[in-house]
Amino acid sequence: MSSTVENIIQGSVKERIDRWVARYPDDQKQSAVMAALRIVQETNGGHLTTELMDQIADYLEMPPIAVYEVATFYGNYEHEPVGKHKICLCNSISCMLRGNDEILAHMEKKLNIKPGEVTEDGRFSIKKVECLGACGGAPMMQIGKTYYENLTEASVDEILDGLE
Ligand code: FES
Repeated sequence: MSSTVENIIQGSVKERIDRWVARYPDDQKQSAVMAALRIVQETNGGHLTTELMDQIADYLEMPPIAVYEVATFYGNYEHEPVGKHKICLCNSISCMLRGNDEILAHMEKKLNIKPGEVTEDGRFSIKKVECLGACGGAPMMQIGKTYYENLTEASVDEILDGLE
């Protein structure tokens, strides 16, 4: 483990991870890796680093490469800083057919960032993601744990302007 970063797996973070570890047999604690990645990512302001993934590997007694594989396969893990509000705009077929391009262009202009970037004040970032399973409400986006569907330029303005 790198000694350059304080071990994040302590206190309430450790307790939260331990609750997931307790769900699995003693020799299967690596099954908690996705939960551990999510908890550590949340605690670190929304993104992971190699050092943090190494700490998870140490804690769950698994090879670091196995943690990296999970963390890079799933799109909900971030490896670069994100905004306080991470806007996940669906980029799959139903949302494409229903105008997600126009929604993205509007957001880019409004926030002055492209996907993968963070606004200067750190409040927003945009990420294009695959189908979030709300195709009937296309075009849609997810911010935090909330889905926003049937987006229009006006509703995007209202939603973003209403966030703290
Ligand atoms: S295509 Fe956008 S939610 Fe499924």
